[in-house]
Amino acid sequence: MNWIRVASASDLQDDEVLGLTVGSARIALYRIEGEFYATDNRCTHAEALMSEGYLEDGCIECPLHQARFDIRTGAALCAPATEPLRTHPVKREGEEIYIGAAAA
Ligand code: FES
Repeated sequence: MNWIRVASASDLQDDEVLGLTVGSARIALYRIEGEFYATDNRCTHAEALMSEGYLEDGCIECPLHQARFDIRTGAALCAPATEPLRTHPVKREGEEIYIGAAAA
């Protein structure tokens, strides 16, 4: 797998989310308890940006209609969303954060 550097670890604190463009894809990068995760940055219910949502306890709440998703699995946890967020592989090397090229 090709990996694309997208951020530095210091760009995010725990429980923060960052919106990124990786190739043609819009990605949300999350930091939870020092670990990094990535999903598509578009809610599966409509067009809201997950990077503008509220992140707590490993879940992101959509800013538009308050659907919640598990960041680690992408699972939709409550209405109105029913489809999961697509997740993307993330790795950390030192201070650098990479996303798998399949996201691009
Ligand atoms: Fe996210 Fe409606 S756009 S719940």
